[in-house]
Amino acid sequence: MGFMAGKKALIVGVASERSIATGIAVAFAREGCDIAFTYQNEKLLSRVTKLAERLHQNTDLLFPCDVASDDEIDAVFAALGKKWDGLDIIVHSVGYAPREQLAGGFVESITREGYRISHDISAYSLAALAKAGLPMMEGRNAAMLAMTYYAAEKAVPSYNVMGLAKASLEACVRFLAADLGPKGIRVNAISAGAIKTLAAAGIGGFRKMLSYARKAAPLQRTVTTEEVGNTAAFLCSDLASGITGEITFVDAGANIMAMTLDDT
Ligand SMILES: NC(=O)c1ccc[n+]([C@@H]2O[C@H](COP(=O)([O-])OP(=O)(O)OC[C@H]3O[C@@H](n4cnc5c(N)ncnc54)[C@H](O)[C@@H]3O)[C@@H](O)[C@H]2O)c1
Repeated sequence: MGFMAGKKALIVGVASERSIATGIAVAFAREGCDIAFTYQNEKLLSRVTKLAERLHQNTDLLFPCDVASDDEIDAVFAALGKKWDGLDIIVHSVGYAPREQLAGGFVESITREGYRISHDISAYSLAALAKAGLPMMEGRNAAMLAMTYYAAEKAVPSYNVMGLAKASLEACVRFLAADLGPKGIRVNAISAGAIKTLAAAGIGGFRKMLSYARKAAPLQRTVTTEEVGNTAAFLCSDLASGITGEITFVDAGANIMAMTLDDT
């Protein structure tokens, strides 16, 4: 029996086989968790359906959800509440900024609208999911998990306004953890190293970020969605019952390094 047997999770953020959310779903399913999924739009439904089938999950538990819409978020929990009497886990693996925000200099690229959209989709949506999901999660040893990146702490070229959105997301993790702890809900984030996914492909110079990560990391490689998924499974399970409000790095150690002398 897996260490998540009996748990029920909602995973938000599957877009492809390479999505970090896919790695998380694979680990959750392996550990015996029942999973409901959302999909951002109809174009992604067939991919999410295939994943749910592959993981032997109930394909009646797939819900449309653009996190920019409070109505769609509310509809997810209304529909889920008809199928499940409670919810143990929400995974938020969502990030977005308009493409032109993720290239060139910070001052050159940033706009009021770019700032608004990136923070709305990438950070506020975690609080929105917590607000809407609370009635189903309260009092169940529940957990929420978000996906962040080191650019919340240090300036990373091209990441620009998304770095600000990730800083907001990390602060949101701490405020949610403080507020929801007394209700039995833990809230954590994983700070993943660079992984080639659809979202990452939109970041200017992403290939250079990958090769820098390989050089800088003590493990001398990048990480996989499977590795992030395994850590996510631990953090969302009762094995991590004493951990809340934390940002856990899964980046082959890259964040501990101040510099690399390797210029190849
Ligand atoms: N890939 C990396 O290098 C990396 C590193 C650290 C953190 N992250 C974070 O991991 C998370 C998942 O990204 P990924 O790399 O797996 O890429 P991905 O493209 O596979 O996933 C991004 C997800 O965000 C969803 N999304 C975007 N806008 C949305 C909206 N308005 N409503 C609902 N869903 C929306 C997309 O549908 C997609 O499922 C993001 O928060 C990302 O910032 C990624």
